[in-house]
Amino acid sequence: MIFKNLPGHIAIIMDGNGRWAKKRNLDRIYGHAEGIKSLKSVVKGVMYYKIKYLTAYAFSSENWQRPEEEVDYLMDLLEQYIEIELPYLIKNKIRLNFIGNLEKLPEKSKTAVLRAVDKTKNGSELTLTLAISYGSKEEILNAVRKISEDVKKKSIDLNDINSQLFSNYLYTAGIPDPDLIIRTSGEERMSNFMLYQAAYAELYFTKTLWPDFRRKNLIIALKNYEKRSRRFGKT
Ligand code: IPE
Ligand code: IPE
Ligand code: MG
Repeated sequence: MIFKNLPGHIAIIMDGNGRWAKKRNLDRIYGHAEGIKSLKSVVKGVMYYKIKYLTAYAFSSENWQRPEEEVDYLMDLLEQYIEIELPYLIKNKIRLNFIGNLEKLPEKSKTAVLRAVDKTKNGSELTLTLAISYGSKEEILNAVRKISEDVKKKSIDLNDINSQLFSNYLYTAGIPDPDLIIRTSGEERMSNFMLYQAAYAELYFTKTLWPDFRRKNLIIALKNYEKRSRRFGKT
């Protein structure tokens, strides 16, 4: 499949793991485990098309309110994913990046995350960002706090504050805004994801549950994106 235009940055709200498991009379955690296979499949697809940025929303700031067993399982899954995938990421020059409030993570998850970021820092083919303990409102408020401090310290001037500067204070500093945001599972909402960065993203919603979303589903989303007319407010 050849595309006339591809997104430079795809962001995915990976939703529907629990429902996938429920449909099979399984515990929700099996849906999360199966969802890892989808992530691996989509990473391969994105690499094939030489797309440089992929962001996957894996755990929101609100997801801390889930039952402790589920949260613990998700943190274990994150560590397992990092450990198993690290050689593949290094070999394929994939830089692993994280956005979110990592301070809330259990110590050993945080250590695994920081180690993987360091080990993959020279990756030049794809920046794979995992949004973990991520909330967009929190991200924006943190940016406002840091900018205010810098104004107070006089390291920046009030008049310097523009959209470019503001972006540099977000967790996503250095990463271009997403061109395409995919949400699986049929929900059509942002759930506190990239609210600032999504200003001109194309949104693609599919009823497919995340554990069923594989490379072929990515290609369908890319075909849909190819037909979009992006005007950015112009005629
Ligand atoms: C998405 O699947 C994964 C996370 C939010 C961690 P869900 O766990 O939200 O699955 P549903 O939406 O309940 O089916
Ligand atoms: C959004 O899914 C967060 C992730 C996919 C990680 P949720 O399942 O938490 O969102 P809501 O509660 O349906 O909005
Ligand atoms: Mg959900």
